Amino acid sequence: MNILAINAYHPNASAALVQNGQLIAAVEEERFNRVKYAAGFPTQAIRYCLGEASLEIEDVHYVVVPRNPWARLWKKLFFAARLPRFAADRAHVMARFAGLHYQLAEALGVAPERIRAKFHRLEHHQAHLASAFFVSPFDQAALLSVDGLGDFASAMWGVGHGSKMEVKGDVAFPHSLGIFYTALTQYLGFWKFGDEYKVMGLGSYGEPAHLEKFRRIVKPGPGAGFRLGLEYFVHHQRGAEMTWSSADETPVLGQLYSDELEKLLGPARKAEEPLERQHQDLAASQQAVLEEALFAMLNELHRQTRMKDLCLAGGVAFNCVANGKIFSRTPFERVWVQPAAGDAGLAVGAAFHLYHQVLGGRRQFVMDHPYWGPGFLRAHVRQAIQEKSLPEKGYRVRQLEEHELVKETAMFLSEGDIIGWFQGRMEWGPRALGNRSILADPRRADMKDILNRRIKHRETFRPFAPSILEEAVSEYFEAPCASPFMQMTFPVRPEKRDVIPAPTHVDGTGRLQTVNRAANPRFWALLQEFGHQTGVPVLLNTSFNESEPIVCRPQEAIDCFLRTQMDALVLGDYLIDKTAELPLSLRD
Ligand SMILES: [Fe+2]
Repeated sequence: MNILAINAYHPNASAALVQNGQLIAAVEEERFNRVKYAAGFPTQAIRYCLGEASLEIEDVHYVVVPRNPWARLWKKLFFAARLPRFAADRAHVMARFAGLHYQLAEALGVAPERIRAKFHRLEHHQAHLASAFFVSPFDQAALLSVDGLGDFASAMWGVGHGSKMEVKGDVAFPHSLGIFYTALTQYLGFWKFGDEYKVMGLGSYGEPAHLEKFRRIVKPGPGAGFRLGLEYFVHHQRGAEMTWSSADETPVLGQLYSDELEKLLGPARKAEEPLERQHQDLAASQQAVLEEALFAMLNELHRQTRMKDLCLAGGVAFNCVANGKIFSRTPFERVWVQPAAGDAGLAVGAAFHLYHQVLGGRRQFVMDHPYWGPGFLRAHVRQAIQEKSLPEKGYRVRQLEEHELVKETAMFLSEGDIIGWFQGRMEWGPRALGNRSILADPRRADMKDILNRRIKHRETFRPFAPSILEEAVSEYFEAPCASPFMQMTFPVRPEKRDVIPAPTHVDGTGRLQTVNRAANPRFWALLQEFGHQTGVPVLLNTSFNESEPIVCRPQEAIDCFLRTQMDALVLGDYLIDKTAELPLSLRD
């Protein structure tokens, strides 16, 4: 049985394919059309998923969409009556989803009658809950989804048992922790879609000195929910305005906070103004009040369910600082967050919800690695190297056996080189986890600045992340569990902070990836070899990109390598580096 899931007309458009209860492929459209957070219809993602499973559209039995325009209809009608623009937006959404069959046919270039699949819909947050639970290693767990807004809700919780999940409650528009976090991110001068993680990094520099004021903005309860002080926001009066004219544009979100917020906290920071101590304290207060609300929800959820294990999803589940504190602030003993916890992950959730909850399929799949995107044969890699004329440009290209490849790469890294590392199938979700990564030596205190100067050009306050051999994690981190998808921040052991200064954040923590041998044997081998050579089985790991979506194809990796100042590139079995006499002019 083949299920195609499509997350369309929403930021992080994506597709996933599930065959007989097993995930075959999952990918975000942004990796193909090269537009960060691309919305619109995920044409190329769908084509890739079908191709990966060697299917034609006729072979697909079900198509499922994680959106239900009919959910909370009365509430929507209530707002539509007050907000004409909101009513127009809703009508537009309904029309687009009504024509999905034809849009899919058009995207694939086939006649509509060739699509025989049955179409299903699933509410946004139920898809989030399913995306967390049905692919987790837990047979039963408490479930929580928290984000900005989807199908008119911002949070939902429930419980999962085997092949079924049950919704226990939700928080409806206009109350939203995601909108709160984004509004305050805008207030602090960060306006780009997806900038929330910058403020999370900034908060580590400050103290929650404004917590009392922030408690007027977000209040816990009733029950497992929370409320916003709505006077500080405008989204309930004007609508949460999000625009993109096509799949070729990153979404743009209108202002979410009101003048009252500036009366409470002082004038908003303009994007070009310097970041000062007060901004660090405001970011710390924002994080602290988010954590208060989140942990209140989790403690109430635990009280209601008595589960030991927790599955988290939704955009707020990317708050790795909060995630790392769940063990000390709630009774939950194990936590699972899938790599695409945000809206891209809705596709996986919708597919598995249909398979288990609707069709009664038994659970037989655990997402024990994140590599569900495109991979490339050695011949493709070789062709890309030839197309880009790397030898002619003066680069040394060597095809090596794995043990040589790993040994040489580790040696380059230990000498301070920055390496582009491109292997196997691309990661699902926004984190580079050892297949589309830029790697560097974590022992060098200046490596963060070097990476920023030469390649990443990020704000200096943002941390870089460490990848570590799973077997060595307790030696370096105060980590109560593995963190295979970089979804949790844990303290670096005090005696190790000077050993790996580059990925240790200002507050002594790291957003680590624990690398499991079975999940990624070659990356594990590289970490082990680096450990042999240096005594430190840790690498600084940042995403393989430069102000663009993470690279997908070898060609994009080579382009990124050529236009930045990486020292070497590992493309599958090929190690590419500069010869000593390479003139700088050839690097452009
Ligand atoms: Fe969402």
